[in-house]
Amino acid sequence: LAVTYREKVRPFIDLVDELRASGLDRDVTLPSVVVIGDQSAGKSSCLEAISGVQLPRGSGIVTRCPLELRLKKSPDPESGWRGYIHFEDKGETRWELDSPEDVGEAVKKAQNQLAGESLCISPRLITLDVESPDIPDLTLIDLPGIARVPVGGQPDDIGDQTKALIREYIQMDETIILAVVPCNVDIATTEALKMAKEVDPDGSRTLGVLTKPDLIDRGTENMTVDIVNNRKYALKKGYTIIKCRGQVDIENKVSLSDAMDKEEMFFQKHEHFKILYEEKKTGTKTLAGKLTTELVEQIKKSIPGLKEDIREKLRDTERQLLLLGDGIPEDPSSKMRFLVELLNGFTVDLEKLTNGEQVRNKM
Ligand code: GDP
Ligand code: NA
Ligand code: MG
Repeated sequence: LAVTYREKVRPFIDLVDELRASGLDRDVTLPSVVVIGDQSAGKSSCLEAISGVQLPRGSGIVTRCPLELRLKKSPDPESGWRGYIHFEDKGETRWELDSPEDVGEAVKKAQNQLAGESLCISPRLITLDVESPDIPDLTLIDLPGIARVPVGGQPDDIGDQTKALIREYIQMDETIILAVVPCNVDIATTEALKMAKEVDPDGSRTLGVLTKPDLIDRGTENMTVDIVNNRKYALKKGYTIIKCRGQVDIENKVSLSDAMDKEEMFFQKHEHFKILYEEKKTGTKTLAGKLTTELVEQIKKSIPGLKEDIREKLRDTERQLLLLGDGIPEDPSSKMRFLVELLNGFTVDLEKLTNGEQVRNKM
């Protein structure tokens, strides 16, 4: 069963990861899951729970560059944890990490290098690769939170800058939007859902995530149950409610796996939410499974368009190569020949995936 699952999921996600890694995301639009939310909504906590790594935390804008988390479930349950960070800054930088606890510091260091030591944001992408038996097959992009008021050292238009960056990612029809909203705020007033609605009016590619159910105002539980049941602010893909580590849990060094057990108990026993638990609308594990399914569906839907985009790029590159003619300097032409080979390879892979055949594994 595990093998069939891997064959059905991994090749699709790998293909898109490879296209992105080859820099082709500038020429073709790639499906991805993008996490958005107002500041402190619980985005990073949600990603931590799904990925099992410790992300940078603190108050204010902590996520200052887009962070792509590429999660790969290793088939061997005994295999250990592996993690790498890479980004481009005057050449390629790649750091190997020793443990999930080291991720936060490494991401901070990379952000300082790309966005400066101040509290500014930058559109430059940091990629984190994680391989472990305990994680789902999924690629997610964490974006800076939507800030309302600039704090010391931030430009006055920090809010607009953040929204522009978020919009760039979520406007593409290929993007699945994970909109994170705390239970203890009025859902209709959140900037995240407003932005999602702008680009996806009928909610056909927006998944809602409700966070902080333990901090809910007493008496408003049934309203939250209604939201999760899609009766208030309807999204075609619906909602999941999750509980992550709060400040006290962090101070008490509650591990991510203990937090997940506590999360399950919380929903199972909750007077108002246990009904949602029974309907499988609760918990980070449920959310991760839902996301993997949605992402693979989205990739499958995107394949015809991707094929066309890549063919176009291929034709264009071959035309330029022809124009360069013979006797040209070695460097640009060999780069282009390499690109032609790469594009041809992707064309073959896309064809195979369409036909349900196995693709070569290059990783
Ligand atoms: P982000 O700014 O959207 O990335 O938000 P964070 O993930 O950094 O979370 C902001 C604060 O809320 C942190 O102190 C978290 O520990 C806390 N938090 C996140 N999720 C929950 C939750 O489900 N329950 C509680 N009590 N606190 C949470
Ligand atoms: Na934060
Ligand atoms: Mg964050």
